[in-house]
Amino acid sequence: MELKNINDANKYIQANKSRLNLQYRLKYHLMGEYGWINDPNGFIYYKGNYHLFYQHNPYEAVWGPMHWGHAISKDLVKWSYLPIALVPGDDFDKDGCFSGSAIEKDDMLCLLYTGHIYTGPDKSKDYKQVQNLAYSKDGINFIKYSKNPVIGEKQIPEEASKKDFRDPKVFKNGQYYYMMLGSNDGNEHGQVLLYKSTNLKDWDFVNILARGNENTGYNWECPDLFELQGKYVLMVSAEHIKTRGNDFNSTHSSIYFIGDLDINKGIFKFDIDDYQQIDNGFDFYAPQTTSDKLGRRLIVAWMDMWGEVMPTQERGHNWAGAMILPREILMVNGKLYFRPIKEIENYRKNHYKLINLKIDGEKNLDTYGDCYELEVEFEGGKAEEFGLKIRKGDNEETILSYKRDESLFIFDRNKSGIGPKGERKINVALKNNKLKLRVFVDVSSVEIFINDGEKVMSGRIYPSKNSVNISVYSKGECKINYLNKWDIV
Ligand code: FRU
Repeated sequence: MELKNINDANKYIQANKSRLNLQYRLKYHLMGEYGWINDPNGFIYYKGNYHLFYQHNPYEAVWGPMHWGHAISKDLVKWSYLPIALVPGDDFDKDGCFSGSAIEKDDMLCLLYTGHIYTGPDKSKDYKQVQNLAYSKDGINFIKYSKNPVIGEKQIPEEASKKDFRDPKVFKNGQYYYMMLGSNDGNEHGQVLLYKSTNLKDWDFVNILARGNENTGYNWECPDLFELQGKYVLMVSAEHIKTRGNDFNSTHSSIYFIGDLDINKGIFKFDIDDYQQIDNGFDFYAPQTTSDKLGRRLIVAWMDMWGEVMPTQERGHNWAGAMILPREILMVNGKLYFRPIKEIENYRKNHYKLINLKIDGEKNLDTYGDCYELEVEFEGGKAEEFGLKIRKGDNEETILSYKRDESLFIFDRNKSGIGPKGERKINVALKNNKLKLRVFVDVSSVEIFINDGEKVMSGRIYPSKNSVNISVYSKGECKINYLNKWDIV
């Protein structure tokens, strides 16, 4: 497709958005206004608003020439679309404005992003990538820096892929700006490159900040690094990371390491064998974090997965891709916990409540829905298995179960409707024989926070409209200490 300018892209969206099929559109999660989205980009709190940009093809519900879509919010729940921020087509971003991040400097909102450029006919191999700067005084209209790229291929160090060199995440430390880039060592080990600058325009290579091994994926994308309670956390999205037991069963997975940072040497000190999946569900990739004025460390991510079936790409739906509900990251006993942002509680309506209910078998609740939050505490009793069934209807159900023998929590979407199938499992220990779940359902998504955020599982499901029933069940006797459900409106 011939690339158009910002006005054309915005006009196209406005002229076509009535063609969206709304059936699977989410109600309290960010999606593109029309067409395709993937990674969150440029997540920042700037002049009173949260800004979230995203990888976007506004013309079709398939990945294509990447633009940066743009939305703002006061509370991370209700988003308003702004005009597209970046359109590809200049020499330094001819075939795509790939992922990147935002930082405030001299009152301006500055974006650092990857320019993707094809160099030959085979798009899977013939490309190069460079890093670019764009800036804005009003947080809406962006100007690309006239001397882009700010980091070109000549600044790629030896021992690094000459092609995969992308997704700048910028942060300030002392007097310097630092930029991390996702890459690999040319030998199928992911790595993160570190550069520094005083002005966001002139960058020097510092070091290879961190390097993976044969288990941790052949390329690392979308690096992120932050301090939490005196420790540093490095997150990367690892392409084709090796399956490990129940973990890493999606094509790619986003993982984290906890370590220490020597910023002067540009070294992240960590144990390469000690990594965790950020979200143990089906659909979670390319997370990006930021901090806000409340001092929270917030994370957003794409709630889909490369290579998965996406039913809204077909049948005239004309959109694909959504973001997770933003989460707050906490450090508890040396592990990361993830909790939904508290602002979502302001959207609770129609409280349904149960307490001290004994079950042995299945019980349908006299409430239903496709857009709600449900919080429940099970007390295991002697039950060998217990859990919830959501989005139940004729021959459809999504099962969230706990199997005591194996200490396994299972998210089963084999009967969830059209679309991708399968199950994801994780080991979870009961606490005093109890299991706590907080489940967010939003038309075509499910996010499950287990035991106060010790583990999270996210996934897309595509049930039919009338699959809205909810039940609790057990095999053997078990007790529900409490169950609260609110519509999210
Ligand atoms: C991750 C990713 C990034 C890249 C972008 C392209 O999902 O592959 O590495 O910048 O998507 O859309």
